[in-house]
Amino acid sequence: MANRISLNGTSYHGAGAINEIVNEVKGHGFKKAFISSDPDLVKFGVTKKVTDLLDAANLPYEVYSDIKPNPTIENVKNGVEAFKASGADYIIAIGGGSSMDTSKAIGIIITNPEFADVRSLEGVAPTKNPCVPIIAVPTTAGTAAEVTINYVITDVEKQRKFVCVDTHDMPIVAVVDPEMMSTMPKGLTAATGMDALTHAIEGYTTKAAWEMTDMFHLEAIRLISENLRDAVANTKEGREGMALGQYIAGMGFSNVGLGIDHSMAHTLSAHYDTPHGVACAMLLPISMEFNREYTGDKYKNIAKAMGVEGVDNMSQDEYRQAAIDAVKKLSKDVGIPEKNERIKEEDLDVLATDALNDACYPGNPREATKEQVIEMFRQLM
Ligand SMILES: NC(=O)c1ccc[n+]([C@@H]2O[C@H](COP(=O)([O-])OP(=O)(O)OC[C@H]3O[C@@H](n4cnc5c(N)ncnc54)[C@H](O)[C@@H]3O)[C@@H](O)[C@H]2O)c1
Ligand SMILES: [Fe+2]
Repeated sequence: MANRISLNGTSYHGAGAINEIVNEVKGHGFKKAFISSDPDLVKFGVTKKVTDLLDAANLPYEVYSDIKPNPTIENVKNGVEAFKASGADYIIAIGGGSSMDTSKAIGIIITNPEFADVRSLEGVAPTKNPCVPIIAVPTTAGTAAEVTINYVITDVEKQRKFVCVDTHDMPIVAVVDPEMMSTMPKGLTAATGMDALTHAIEGYTTKAAWEMTDMFHLEAIRLISENLRDAVANTKEGREGMALGQYIAGMGFSNVGLGIDHSMAHTLSAHYDTPHGVACAMLLPISMEFNREYTGDKYKNIAKAMGVEGVDNMSQDEYRQAAIDAVKKLSKDVGIPEKNERIKEEDLDVLATDALNDACYPGNPREATKEQVIEMFRQLM
């Protein structure tokens, strides 16, 4: 089977990139924007950075902000109704993965109404039409949802998150402006940054990885390792490095998939509403340890990309350990907690079952039994 790469038609990078939005809107001849953002971003004036530009250019829009972190089926359904009532012909998604993922689901259902129940979009849904055009403006440096073909929705009733994979949801334009991320508090910067590192490491070691995605993932690991501590300290360089690093990780993993860390992380968020990045970060050394014998010499390149010295003189066992230790150190330096107090012994069985049913699990380089997954969750208790 041929390898497929699907990316944005156009993307802008660097401080001030949001100033390109008006030209893109005019160039496409769009009439009215449906701005999809979350309530905190509206409250703290992050969304306004973009709407001010639209106001100055006399471009009409309407704001939809019924979006919670780990967005729900209800957020999507309400968004579909709001879009229909708005008379808009394109979407500007402003926010983290939650706003961008909700926008993708709304955009897909508007052009493919037979999927209006939302649940039927899980996995690779046979949609026929590209979604409503989306201009995606990330405000976190983590998910890279602006350049991925994925979106993740929470089914509150069934206590599960489900992953949807569809090339029809790719934003036509991504505007990756580090200044949109500068208002993130330290904890959120750390968690979303570790999500990006998890994408890069899982994408690099996933079953379908190949030369072109390896190139993206190794560069992403290098950029993220070099810049995450500085981004948490809110330096300009740190923010720029992370904006780019997380995007490059997305160029890779979106096209090849992830692994058991993400499948377990989705389960934690669905059951306990754990923020996605925190869940990914806590599980990263544990899942890397589980996979270590199934990764050839890849941990050598991970250790090198993370700046570990003397890797060429290390034995296989040593460089594998060095890669895991470098991840642990970065996590610790940026303040990621090691334990999740909410996990209960009686939940372990269903957590493991759900993780093994998650769409990210089949990409993992090593197969896992339910008992092994339970054991990994137990390490977080
Ligand atoms: N589509 C994909 O490929 C993909 C990949 C990974 C994760 N995800 C999904 O994305 C979601 C997580 O997204 P996220 O980690 O970006 O966070 P998020 O979108 O859930 O936002 C978390 C919180 O951070 C706040 N916030 C965001 N940007 C801010 C800023 N600049 N300043 C201050 N506060 C800000 C938001 O208001 C919100 O309260 C999860 O549902 C996850 O499953 C999607
Ligand atoms: Fe993620």
